[in-house]
Amino acid sequence: MVRKAIIPAAGYGTRTLPITKVLPKEMLPICGRPALDFIVEEAIKSGIEQILIVVSRSKNMILDYYDRSVELETYLEEKDKTHLLKEIALPNVHFQYVRQSYARGLGDAVLLGKQFVGNEPFAVLLPDEIILANEKQPLKQLIDIFTKHQGNIIGVKKLDQDQLKNYGVIKPELIKNKEYIIKDIVEKPQKSPPSDLAVIGRYIFDPIIFNYLENVKPGVGGEIQLTDAIKEMAKAYKSYGLEIDGTCFDIAKMSEYVELINYICGPRGKQQQ
Ligand code: UTP
Repeated sequence: MVRKAIIPAAGYGTRTLPITKVLPKEMLPICGRPALDFIVEEAIKSGIEQILIVVSRSKNMILDYYDRSVELETYLEEKDKTHLLKEIALPNVHFQYVRQSYARGLGDAVLLGKQFVGNEPFAVLLPDEIILANEKQPLKQLIDIFTKHQGNIIGVKKLDQDQLKNYGVIKPELIKNKEYIIKDIVEKPQKSPPSDLAVIGRYIFDPIIFNYLENVKPGVGGEIQLTDAIKEMAKAYKSYGLEIDGTCFDIAKMSEYVELINYICGPRGKQQQ
């Protein structure tokens, strides 16, 4: 059973400046809701009971968002606007927070969850990749495969060649339709990517990953890369790739951010139907 999830949200969001100087990328609005809330919803619908959000100095807004505002509740009651109380109801999940003092990289952010995780398998969800699933929640798709294989499971998607240099890319061995054994993984391959299957921000890990994260050296961009820890771990522990069924939007890319908003609440968006 996978009950715990880590959501790293301590990065500087340099690709989305200048707005991310004051507004965390994870809080970018999507039809009135912060991006992070879509990820929290995905986690809860996939059976997650406890979430650790990795934050930094400038991310207190995230803690405030998932806290009660008694003042606002009282105001809505006094002004006869109680129908709006449901808009600020808190999600049914237990939140914890840890601060990353310096953005050393995604691997370092995940390592900060070691105590929270303890000795059980856990999920990692990146809040800047929003995946709208057709039927089953993306994380639930991974959890179901985890139940079957009991190994590490990494969500992947097929990308065009020119995109692969921006992602971790796996060297896969096909097991069956959309399921792979990870033979190797390369962070941001600048040439000759090992396949067209890119890592897209959904993972299930055995806590053994922490042993590897503790030993990994700074990699691409001088950052502690989660991909480098996965690479070493996959040599000793079976790790699987699963092609996630759903439409992915990287909100750090303006075109995909706009596309997502249109998809959900544009003139022909799902919320308008
Ligand atoms: P990204 O690399 O997409 O986010 O990391 P970033 O570093 O904030 O953005 P750019 O690249 O400068 O534009 C994916 C997720 O991991 C978190 C980020 O907050 C983001 O949600 N992260 C990244 C951390 O929590 N700590 C880090 O050291 C790096």
